[in-house]
Amino acid sequence: MTVPIEEKIHELLKNNQRTQEGLQYTVPASDLYPFQWLWDSCFHAIIYTHFDVTAAQAELTAACSRPLHSGLLPHIIYHQPPRISPGKWGREQRGDIIDAAWGVQGTSSLTQPCVIALAARKTYEQSNDKAWLASLYPTLHAHFEALAHEYVAPAYAPLLTINNPDESGEDNSPRFDSALGLASQHSADVHLDARIKLMQQYATCKYAVTTCMHEHFAVIDFSFNALYAMDLAELATLATYLGHHNDAVALNERSEAVKTALRKHLWNGEHFLSLDTHTRKQIPTLTWTVFLALYANLLSATEAEQLITTTLLNPTHFKSTYGLPTTAKSEPSYDPEGGFWRGPVWHAPHWFLYHGLMRYGHDELAAEYKAASLALIEESGFREQYHPETGAGQGATNFTWGGLVIDMV
Ligand code: GLC
Repeated sequence: MTVPIEEKIHELLKNNQRTQEGLQYTVPASDLYPFQWLWDSCFHAIIYTHFDVTAAQAELTAACSRPLHSGLLPHIIYHQPPRISPGKWGREQRGDIIDAAWGVQGTSSLTQPCVIALAARKTYEQSNDKAWLASLYPTLHAHFEALAHEYVAPAYAPLLTINNPDESGEDNSPRFDSALGLASQHSADVHLDARIKLMQQYATCKYAVTTCMHEHFAVIDFSFNALYAMDLAELATLATYLGHHNDAVALNERSEAVKTALRKHLWNGEHFLSLDTHTRKQIPTLTWTVFLALYANLLSATEAEQLITTTLLNPTHFKSTYGLPTTAKSEPSYDPEGGFWRGPVWHAPHWFLYHGLMRYGHDELAAEYKAASLALIEESGFREQYHPETGAGQGATNFTWGGLVIDMV
């Protein structure tokens, strides 16, 4: 008997659930990622709203449990101390090196893209638990204030810079190669070392964002900013639910201002691209994030059609057998096997693309990407990433993001 996909997802998330000191959260994959990650937890909450809203609430409460001094929500919370097992672990698990480089205890010092207000809105609308929302709201609001004040790119305000590729959620995306001083082809270790070096420089200057961190790396990432704009509007909705009308007005205004600035600084007439504030130039590398313009509703109908025909469905760029490669096939950095964010298909980009296509009335095309996600799970299981042409699973096993297919509705 075949088990329905909903049941498989339910089981996967339950297996990855952990409780520590009264906080319940879900690890993305118990083998490779045994901690709590910020945007993963937002995906988890969105998935949980389909079958266990109490778990969705708990997940977000735990994600908000350890803000940094500035109010920023860190991208990793080590509810349990990192174990060191050389060879198996990635950067987060290099024990002492990374502990020292984060400069804080028990969490990282970076953040990840904003999906949290959306996740909280969906969770609230499912639970109607105003007391829970009211308890979460001040921490959420403080996170967005910290972003607005600490991450702002002064010459491009209100756009934000990220301080490390990890903050984009796409650790080794080739759109950050030039800013890291790397060629388009290099080993994973070279990339990791470049990011660790950044963290060590930041630890030395005690994470002073504008006077130090921006000197080393300061990219206005399109995806980070597009998701920020969307989430500001979601936070405004939460403020309205709680009767904080002044907040709602201010947050909506900021969301619109970010969208206007995105068009002014990152649009090249065809795509929204990231910008390196050191060179003051847009970064031409084509990655899947150009389609976040659909999700964030940044395009006219004509521009959207053009993006879909010339880029998404173009076999030289992004059309592949199993959906959306994370880096265009036309890029010299394209590496579908073992490339991590440099080619393999990931489930979260499919989920963003699905909702973006639906927003522009492309229901049938959206359904094709959902079908590709389902086929990948069916054929290769819940893996972290997949080969875009063969569908072979890669990276972590029992990885949670495939659960997002339940929210492609
Ligand atoms: C990898 C991904 C990142 C994710 C983390 C945990 O580092 O690049 O987006 O948050 O794994 O799943």
